[in-house]
Amino acid sequence: MRIEPAPSVRGRFRLPGDKSISHRAALLGALAEGRTRIHNYSSAADCASTLECLRALGVTLGRHRNEVTVVTVEGRGPDSWTPPGDALDAGNSGTTLRLLAGALAGRPFQTVLTGDESLRRRPVERVAAPLRTMGATALTTDGKPPLTIGGGRLHGIECELPVASAQVKTAILLAGLQAEGITTVREPAPSRDHTERMLPVFGVPVERHGLAATVHGGASLRGAEIVVPGDVSSAAFLVVAALVLPDSEIHLEGVLLSPTRAAFVDVLRAMGGNVEVRLEGTDPEPVGSIVACSSSLHGTTVDPARVAALIDEVPALAVAASFAEGTFTLTGAKELRVKESDRIAAMAEGLGRLGGHVHELPDGLVIEGGAALRGAQVRSHGDHRVAMALAVAALAAEGPTEIEGAECATVSFPEFYDYLNRGAGRV
Ligand code: S3P
Repeated sequence: MRIEPAPSVRGRFRLPGDKSISHRAALLGALAEGRTRIHNYSSAADCASTLECLRALGVTLGRHRNEVTVVTVEGRGPDSWTPPGDALDAGNSGTTLRLLAGALAGRPFQTVLTGDESLRRRPVERVAAPLRTMGATALTTDGKPPLTIGGGRLHGIECELPVASAQVKTAILLAGLQAEGITTVREPAPSRDHTERMLPVFGVPVERHGLAATVHGGASLRGAEIVVPGDVSSAAFLVVAALVLPDSEIHLEGVLLSPTRAAFVDVLRAMGGNVEVRLEGTDPEPVGSIVACSSSLHGTTVDPARVAALIDEVPALAVAASFAEGTFTLTGAKELRVKESDRIAAMAEGLGRLGGHVHELPDGLVIEGGAALRGAQVRSHGDHRVAMALAVAALAAEGPTEIEGAECATVSFPEFYDYLNRGAGRV
């Protein structure tokens, strides 16, 4: 895809539903008794993978598009799930695979979970190990998918996670709901807490103490109405575009503002970014609007304790840092090496080709900002967030950029290039 520089981005946008929340709403709806309706379900290919896998497990669901996408799940409880005829294909979606592993650990049959080439390179032992401790069989392929889950009678566990991971935490909690006894997961830093916030909406209490979440086994969920806020990770790319381009101003409405997801806003503010956030509701998730305008940015050092709450936004932050004066330092983000691509290496390569000064650390990045970026040939490495971050950098660079594999933005934000074009006044 060829991206021409844009003089500015302006406009008012509503974003498709948050990807993390959409996955959870579909999955909890499938475990529940009764109908669940999910309004503003994510348009991401990843969330379509979750629906496909649930269908393959015998769950009845429908997807309708009005002003927003509405997914209806006819829940008949976990006992109605049937063994799929074939391996479940999670596509590019780590969340689909890891969350389903947890839910399937309580089902009395064997399921193989797999995905595309990128997903088959990603670690799953982190989810397999605790599920085994709970009494499931979980067989990985050298620590990676295909992952075979043989579910059955589970018992609750107390589990300390070595890395903050909402996917692993959620998998254990979903298994815990079907186990005998009590399950507690404790994390080293707060990861996104959408599961803990959503389970009570489905009628299941979650006890939370500091960094620990506890559920009781034998829970029954009842269907719910869920309204999914706009995807805050998608918002990050538009926010950074508005900050780094001159004469720009964007308004994003109805966006998820969870503190476990929106920490990138604080980092951009610490960099001198003009970003306003207005909170409009908090139940079950904080939601509101974001306004971002052109800003003179400067470097900063990101507190490693905040990294879990901005992990998916590092590619966008790296772009902001390239247009900022001075040094930007981010550490404590080793997890980026095992995302859809090695995002540290992929962003260092892409921004480097555009003329940026990016130094890789084993667990982060040091960026010397302020170099004038010029269009070049760059690669997405099949990673949606790398593609979108490089597209934003390209908009603010001099001369056209070609992004190889730009279309993988569909994995989380299929409308991304349309939004950029609208913002740049090209449609
Ligand atoms: C997600 C959790 C994070 C995040 C991913 C979505 C989720 O991954 O990077 O994009 O919805 O639970 P980890 O749990 O592996 O940190």
